[in-house]
This record gives sequence, C-alpha cells and structure tokens, in this order.
Amino acid sequence: MNSKIFKLVIDNLEEALNLPKYEDVTSNLNEQTTFEEMGITPVKFEKFKEDILETMELDAKIRWEGTIASVVDQLDIKYSSMFFGEIWKPQTEMYSYTGWALVDEVKKLNPKAVLDVGCGYNQFKERIPNLTGIDPYNNMSDYQVDILEYANVDEHFDAIIALGSINFNSLEDIRVRLANCNKLLAKGGKMFFRVNPGIQHKNGPWVEVFEWSFEVAHNFAKEFGLELETFKQDANDRKYFVFVKPA
Ligand SMILES: C[S@@+](CC[C@H](N)C(=O)[O-])C[C@H]1O[C@@H](n2cnc3c(N)ncnc32)[C@H](O)[C@@H]1O
Repeated sequence: MNSKIFKLVIDNLEEALNLPKYEDVTSNLNEQTTFEEMGITPVKFEKFKEDILETMELDAKIRWEGTIASVVDQLDIKYSSMFFGEIWKPQTEMYSYTGWALVDEVKKLNPKAVLDVGCGYNQFKERIPNLTGIDPYNNMSDYQVDILEYANVDEHFDAIIALGSINFNSLEDIRVRLANCNKLLAKGGKMFFRVNPGIQHKNGPWVEVFEWSFEVAHNFAKEFGLELETFKQDANDRKYFVFVKPA
C-alpha cells in the first residue's frame, strides 16, 4: 500500500470526524476500517473527497466505499496512471549500465524470451529480440498489466529486466512482485534491475518510492535462492544489480 496516500486519507478523515462523538472511530482508524462504519455526515464526506482529490491534483472517479485500503489503492492506481502515463519521461541515455549498454548484456544470453517489467515506453522492444513489455500504466507496452496480473502465464523467460519499475510502496509490495518475476524466470536465467534508493519524483509527490539498497537486494537474493551476481552504482544515484537463478 502507498503509505503517503494512506496518511493523507487518515489526516483528512481525522479532520472530517473531529467531534467528540467520533472519538471511538478516529482512535481506531486503520486500513480495514470501512467508510460505512464511520457514520460520516454527507456534507463532511463530500468535503473530504474534494480535499483529497484537490491535494493530489487528481481528476478521477473513485468508489468511496468499503475499506480505507481499497480507497487508498484506487487513488494510488489513478495517480500512478496519470503520472507514469502522462508526466514521467525516460532518461535511458544517462545510465552507464542500465541504459543502452544493457541491450548487449541481455543479447549475450541469446534469450528465446525476454520480459521487460514496467517497460514504460517499451524502448527496448526494437533493440532486443523476443522481448515482451508489460506496464500497468503506459499504453506503449505490449500488455497493459501489473506484473502481479501476469503471473499465471505459462511461459518462462531467459531474461527479465525491471528498470525502475519494482520500486514502489512497501517492502511487501516489492516482495510479491519479485516472487512473480522469479516464478516466470527460467532456470539459469537472469534478472536485471535498475533501482532507486528512495529519491522521490519531483513532479510526482504522491508516488511512494521504495528505498532500495544493497542490503535489501542481498536479502531478497537469499530469500528467493538466487545469486546476486553484480551490484554497481549507476548514474543519478540509481543501483544496478543482477540476480541469477541456479540452473
Ligand atoms: C521509472 S519508470 C521506468 C520505465 C522504464 N522501465 C524505463 O526505464 O524507461 C517506472 C515504470 O514502472 C511502471 N510500474 C509502476 N508500478 C508497476 C507495477 N506494479 N508493475 C509493473 N510496472 C509498474 C510505471 O508505469 C513506469 O512505466
């Protein structure tokens, strides 16, 4: 879950429910609290919704019902869609290891199938044969899906690249996506990553960037039984690393 958006929702709910009769509700607000059980008045509820969308500068239809978690997830998806679909632009040429140099690294493996997770504008499609690009928010992708929705595909990839894309929200959000990548990776295959150590996007204040580090990569390698083959500093304070799946 996006903890920045969660905090925004909680802060605004506390303001909307700032009366003694709501004390029990406000002191127990959590991800699973439902809007139905809060008993918020219609006028306050309208203002709460408007304030959230205005603060996030978001023009989107949200189903303001069910749990706080479900509303936070919808806001996160709509915001990411706006940011990654319309605002964010690639800077591939600036990277020493995770830019165009990666094309040769991947091609060295002579892969029969390559998956680009969070491919953005799908820039590697033309340069690496047999590449499928997936991205939930960019319509230049081959399939507009989150890696989580791509998990049951009955295909194994010799190489998977994930450049700045498995980098959002909580450690658990990262873990489930890495687990799915690992499932899709063929034995002896490699996963190439560019990760951001937590530098927030200037024009995307509501995107929560996870704080990747060498230690986190090392721990995940251990957890998934992978070898951490390379770990290098790339431009823009991004990190480059490669996981290898034993043959
Ligand atoms: C920093 S951009 C990098 C795009 C591309 N890999 C590149 O280097 O040009 C991050 C990308 O990850 C995508 N993304 C965000 N959440 C994702 C998820 N859960 N699964 C797959 N891609 C995701 C975004 O839509 C965006 O295109």
